[in-house]
Amino acid sequence: MEKVTIFDTTLRDGEQAAGGTLNVQEKLEIARQLEKLGVDVIEAGFPVTSPGDFEAVRLIAKELRTPTVCVLTHAIIDAVDQSWEAVKGAKQPRIHIVLSSSDIHLFYQLRKNRDEIVKMSVETVKRARKYCSDVEFSAMDASRTEPEFMYRLLEAVIAAGATTVNVPDTVGYAMPPQWGQFIDNIFKNVPNIHQAVVSVHCHNDLGLAVANSLEALKHGARQVEGTINGIGERAGNAALEEIVMALKTREDFFNLTTGIDTTQIYKTSRLVSELTGFAIQANKAIVGGNAFRHSSGLHIDGMIKDAKTYQIIDPKTIGIPAGSLVLGKTSGRHAFRERLAELGYNLSDEGLSRAFAAFKELADKKKNVTDRDIESLVAQDKRAESDAYKLDRIQVTSGDRGIPTSAVTLIAPDGKFKSEAAVGTGPVDATCKVIDKIIKIPGIRLTEFTVNSVTEGIDAIGEVLIRVESEGLSYTGRGAHTDIIVASARAYVNALNRVISARKINSIK
Ligand code: KIV
Ligand code: ZN
Repeated sequence: MEKVTIFDTTLRDGEQAAGGTLNVQEKLEIARQLEKLGVDVIEAGFPVTSPGDFEAVRLIAKELRTPTVCVLTHAIIDAVDQSWEAVKGAKQPRIHIVLSSSDIHLFYQLRKNRDEIVKMSVETVKRARKYCSDVEFSAMDASRTEPEFMYRLLEAVIAAGATTVNVPDTVGYAMPPQWGQFIDNIFKNVPNIHQAVVSVHCHNDLGLAVANSLEALKHGARQVEGTINGIGERAGNAALEEIVMALKTREDFFNLTTGIDTTQIYKTSRLVSELTGFAIQANKAIVGGNAFRHSSGLHIDGMIKDAKTYQIIDPKTIGIPAGSLVLGKTSGRHAFRERLAELGYNLSDEGLSRAFAAFKELADKKKNVTDRDIESLVAQDKRAESDAYKLDRIQVTSGDRGIPTSAVTLIAPDGKFKSEAAVGTGPVDATCKVIDKIIKIPGIRLTEFTVNSVTEGIDAIGEVLIRVESEGLSYTGRGAHTDIIVASARAYVNALNRVISARKINSIK
């Protein structure tokens, strides 16, 4: 079986999703998990667009040893030079140059003619090849590009040294059979095509990103680009977990393989959702909460007799922990540690002690502590650990007669305790106002507030997601607690910490 190169762009295109900003530490954490997942190429960022991206790429390039680490750059000589500075520490670096090829983009956006596009592409590919032997070229908006020009452009960049040529369906316009034909025609009409790997990068505007990606593989593409959970610009990118599981489940049809350790899919998906703040829809293929749940009596009857009746994938294959073990008040540290290990967490002694204390507090309030509760506790601890300002305590009064009032104490980065009180239209408003009084960031605007319960039941942990906007950028904060006002305070403090940390990085340069 031929192997398909899995190119992950969660940290670049995925992060471009509105509201999906990640900080440097979060990018590094996702990159480490992508390495465990076994992706072949990690597109770590677009370093010329922000100092934060530059730093994230530099750190990822320095640390990761197994995958190729790739940077995206415009087709401008200076941008190629700067991008190389970010990725040069990688064991296997790749420079990825993008330039539009469709007449729509050339005419309305770039105001350049086709000859100029070919020239810029060739020059920048040659420049990139001076730095490294692995150079990818993307013809942006390929699906709306006149085919003859596409062949000419690809032939020119391959002759200039591009080792991978990527044809993106940038606006999600392609239809699967037509897209397959387009790939066939590239093979037929670009004389030097076999000197490069053909790649596809499909967007999901019409819900066809995965179908188009698979179609392209069927027609000879051997690299596929996508993101975890399908996040990305607008309706997102092709969901890599879906592509990988389609290739694996229907090996009989595709006769293709990947280097992915599928047992890491669930964990990677949860981590990306947690850090980007993008919830996974319940009916999402492979990783949605309902993907392996059976509801109708007929289906349950079949499942009891033989899982094959209604299930084409064993949930264990994607790393969903076997059985949903329930811990309770009497469960000790040992049982807790064992379950953490089974869920794939390897905490330090200190981290374990904190997580165990949080577990005991939760078990006092909630009869059954499930795997999802434990995941939520660990994630909350991780966030609080990395936050510069930490929530020490909060006291809130609210009701239909009194004035909602919130009193909060935060621990500042210098270790000092800072307390304030404020009133508001409701307890969450009062809490955000009081936190604003302590962490003074001008011009912060709260744009989204969502509460979800981790499990069913009235005693469930509530997870709050808050998005704020500052200087035109969007930041996400998350917090979890059985009391949703405490969870809201944690989420707001987390969001403001992320604004502070992003500003620090941007002011370093
Ligand atoms: O969608 C697109 O065309 C892109 C390119 C940078 C590959 O993201
Ligand atoms: Zn894209």
